[in-house]
Amino acid sequence: MKILLLASGGDAPGMNKIIFNLFKKYKSNIWACEGGFKGLIEGKISSLSRFEPEKFKNQAGCCIKSARCLEFKTEKGFKKGLKNAKKFDAVVILGGNGSFEGAKRLASKGVKVVFVPVTIDNDVEISEYSLGFHTAVKACCDAIYNIMPSMNAFNRCCVFEVMGRKYDKIAFAVAQVTNPDALISNEEDLNFSKISKIVRKNFKNNNSSFIVIRENILNLNKFVSTLKTMVKDIDIKTFVVGHLQRGTKPTRVDLKKANEFSKCIFKSIKTKNMLDAVTVKGGKTFLKEY
Ligand code: F6P
Repeated sequence: MKILLLASGGDAPGMNKIIFNLFKKYKSNIWACEGGFKGLIEGKISSLSRFEPEKFKNQAGCCIKSARCLEFKTEKGFKKGLKNAKKFDAVVILGGNGSFEGAKRLASKGVKVVFVPVTIDNDVEISEYSLGFHTAVKACCDAIYNIMPSMNAFNRCCVFEVMGRKYDKIAFAVAQVTNPDALISNEEDLNFSKISKIVRKNFKNNNSSFIVIRENILNLNKFVSTLKTMVKDIDIKTFVVGHLQRGTKPTRVDLKKANEFSKCIFKSIKTKNMLDAVTVKGGKTFLKEY
């Protein structure tokens, strides 16, 4: 039995735990593609042991390297990747919606594939949870809790920018935990007169104030300069949580989920199903055949 593993898209905390679990189970029977689908196209494939998965098992990041690869969407790129994928009995793909598309395409050409939802954005359509989300939200909440005491000491306001390329799940979850004075998770939330009123009111009560804004809505400097014209007397700072969300050590919740996801992968490898996906529904993790 020859298994190939690859990770595609943004790395996510907990990914390395799955990689280690697979290594522990399949040892010399598992190989890894360095740099996701790009590695598959270029044939950058080597024994998983080379990446020393044991060293990284409880750390964030991705020891086999991840990447975004537009070339795999082209006919030429796909054909090259398919040729390499066909050398294996099963291919395990860790990633988000784009990676699932790649997984479906490979499976439709006769490659046995196991897809695993792994992305901090938690936006994978087929699963209510994707690995790394809990850690990403915690990283944002920790940043807010560790920065606001200092803001308060100087009577300041702080605007925190959180990740979530097209999706607002992280911003919402962070707001649920930390109760910001304003949450800007979509363009409709950009009501400056409303935001400045709330900031002013809460500033009076608490001597400080904070706002959470999702990335890709409005440039952070532009947002702050507009707000400043309306609350001239308040000192406003900014903090981009950014890649802290991906680089933070995985929480116990994500490590536990990584173990549950790994068990599903083991189960799928034993079956003859061409395409299985690890899925979470109603809080339960299971394997779904496509
Ligand atoms: O897909 C996960 C994610 O972290 C998004 O939230 C974010 O927009 C994007 O990746 C950032 O990607 P990169 O690290 O390539 O800039």
